[in-house]
Amino acid sequence: MTIEGAALRDRLDEILARGLAAIEDATDESTLEEARVRFLGRNGLLSDALSAMRDVPAAEKPETGRAANRTKSELEAAFERRRAALAGTSAERGPARDLTLPGRRAWRGGLHPVTRVIDEICGIFRELGFTVATGPEIETDWHNFTALNIPLDHPAADMHDTFYLDDGVLLRTHTSPVQARVMLEHRPPIRILAPGLVFRRDPWDASHAPAFEQIEGLAVDEGIDFVEFRAAIDFFVHRFFGPSARTRFRPSYFPFTEPSAEVDVTCLLCGGTGCPACKGTGWVEIMGSGMVNPAVFEAVGYDPERYTGYAFGMGPARIAMLRYRIPDIRLLYEGDAGFLEQFR
Ligand code: PHE
Repeated sequence: MTIEGAALRDRLDEILARGLAAIEDATDESTLEEARVRFLGRNGLLSDALSAMRDVPAAEKPETGRAANRTKSELEAAFERRRAALAGTSAERGPARDLTLPGRRAWRGGLHPVTRVIDEICGIFRELGFTVATGPEIETDWHNFTALNIPLDHPAADMHDTFYLDDGVLLRTHTSPVQARVMLEHRPPIRILAPGLVFRRDPWDASHAPAFEQIEGLAVDEGIDFVEFRAAIDFFVHRFFGPSARTRFRPSYFPFTEPSAEVDVTCLLCGGTGCPACKGTGWVEIMGSGMVNPAVFEAVGYDPERYTGYAFGMGPARIAMLRYRIPDIRLLYEGDAGFLEQFR
């Protein structure tokens, strides 16, 4: 059996007209509900008409389908409007409010989990004499790359493919340019932490965001050696992750440090025995680091024969995810109050 699309559309128009009239005529909630069941209910006129849809020739289905959707939403909207109007009248009859209910509590804000982690890290390093420095999010390629011994055509710049705003001006890809800015402005001794946002052409997925926080650390003085560097990192790890956390330095490469190391800590979730969060290794990486490369001292006009130092960069969002067991980095940036309320 086939039915012309036009015939079905006429039928829908008729249902709409009659339905709207019935809804308008309803003077109380029970007649309104009857009208709803008769027109919109599971065995109502609209669903009855829609069951003829399968017999409409394919070419006419899209237009007829649209007409059906329109009929349904217009009826639903009219029903909701009428229901609200009737509720208004019945509320006027009864008491509007129950004055015996307890009052509503005022909404209380809280610090974002990443902010907490940043504050805590800065607090721990403050005990070692570090102060907080900042730098601009819009940087020159000289500060972001050249001063840090990263030639623009070096493969290390690839990972930092970024958003160029203008010739030689970009969104910084790491907080390391703050190292150069601080050294250009001050003479050693220097001990600074630089928290801030950085930007990369990274995907938006469970473990990446195109804008995320970093915390840079830099210490420069006469006679700073790798032992002092390790001691500072161990102190931080014990204070932040607890006395049973251990650290591991893995050789790595950054153009602005030499030697360079990736720092791992014992996985917080399994305590080092291996679990999915640490991919079975028992370790999670928390920072890139190393002894400041003399080439960086030369770029900022420090005497590399006189001064040595160490630098590190960590991602507080990753660290917040480990600490609070947050499975997806996007949760940190979506501003979902239901999620954030857990951190008050
Ligand atoms: N800037 C590096 C990065 O973003 C991290 C780093 C900072 C490494 C300081 C060494 C020293 O990957």
